[in-house]
Amino acid sequence: MKSEFIGKTQSGIETYALENDRGMRAEIMTYGARITRLFVPDRRGEFIDVVAGFDTPDEYRDDHGTYFNAIIGRVGNRIGGSKFTLDGKEYRLFSNDGANHLHGGKEGFDKKIWTAETGDGASLKLSYLSADGEEGYPDNLQVAVTYSITNENELKIEYEAECDKATLCSLTNHAYFNLDGDFKSALDHEIYIRSNAITSVDEELIPRGEILDITDTPFDFSRPKPLGRDINADEKLLKIARGGYDFNYILNGDDGAAATAYSKASGVKMSVYTDRPCMQFYSGNFLDGFTGKKKYPYQSAFCMETQGYPNACNVKDFPSIALYGGEKYHTVTTYKFEVCEK
Ligand code: GLA
Repeated sequence: MKSEFIGKTQSGIETYALENDRGMRAEIMTYGARITRLFVPDRRGEFIDVVAGFDTPDEYRDDHGTYFNAIIGRVGNRIGGSKFTLDGKEYRLFSNDGANHLHGGKEGFDKKIWTAETGDGASLKLSYLSADGEEGYPDNLQVAVTYSITNENELKIEYEAECDKATLCSLTNHAYFNLDGDFKSALDHEIYIRSNAITSVDEELIPRGEILDITDTPFDFSRPKPLGRDINADEKLLKIARGGYDFNYILNGDDGAAATAYSKASGVKMSVYTDRPCMQFYSGNFLDGFTGKKKYPYQSAFCMETQGYPNACNVKDFPSIALYGGEKYHTVTTYKFEVCEK
C-alpha cells in the first residue's frame, strides 16, 4: 500500500497516487480534491480507468460544467431561489443555475485548491477552509476529505467538517463512472438502487417537498435493470432532466449496498456503501461530446452522488442539513470494485 506525490503544475496543483497491494490505483489532485484517474481490474485482469476526466490538471478549470469527480460543497445539488433561512435569518447565495444555486455556487469546493497530506497506507487527506460569507454562506467551515484505497479494492471517501456557529453542510463527490472504461455509452450498465422513492422536482430540477413512490415505474431500480431500459419512457420528469435520470433517490434502510452498477462487457461491478440518507443518480445528460482523456458523448457516464436531502434548507419536512458549532460533520461513502460473472 502506498500514497505518493507525483507532481505539481506551474499553477500550483499537486497530484498524488494511492495504490493498494493488488494494483488498484487512484490519482487525486488538489484542485477540487478531484479523482483524476481510477484504475480497477477488469475480467481480463487488466486495469481500466473508470472515471471521466482530462489529461492534465489545468484542463479541469474549464470542465464544461461537469464537476468531474470533484468534492462538492458547501451544499451539493440545487438550492431553490438561491436563498435559505437559518435560525430566523435569510441568506442569499450566488445563482449559477438560472435563479438557483448549484453545487456550491460560482466557485464551489470543486474549484478550490485544497491542502494535501499523505496518510498511512494508501490514503490522502485534503483540507480546505471556507471563509465566512463565501458564496453567501454564513460562518467559517473547515472541511477535510480523506480518500483511501483498501486491499478489498474499495475507494473510501471520509468527509469531516466543523464550523464556529452555524451554517449548511452537505458534501458529496461528483465522480463520473463508466465501468467499460471506454466512455462510449453508460446505457448498458445494469443499475440497482436500494430505493422506492425520489424527491420529485419542478421544471428547474428543484425538489419542493413532494416525495414520489417510484415502485414499478421507469425510475425504479430496486431490481437491477439496464440504465437505458426505461430511459425513453414518456415521463415528464425524464424530459425535464434532459432525457434521462437526474434525481435524488431516498435510500431504504441501511443494509448492504445503497447502489450497484455492473458492466457485462468488462465484468466490473461497483457497489456503493454510504451512511447518507440519499443518492443523486445522474445519467450524464449534460455531457455533449467534448474531449478529455476520452470523448464524452451524451449519457456516456453516470454519477452516484451520496448526499443529504437536496434543497433541505427550504423544505421543512426534509431532514436538516444545518451544521452547528461544536458538532462534527462526519460521513463515509465507499465505492467497492470487483469482477463478477453472471
Ligand atoms: C448534478 C446535477 C445535474 C448537473 C450535473 C453537472 O448531478 O444534478 O443537473 O448539473 O450535476 O453537470
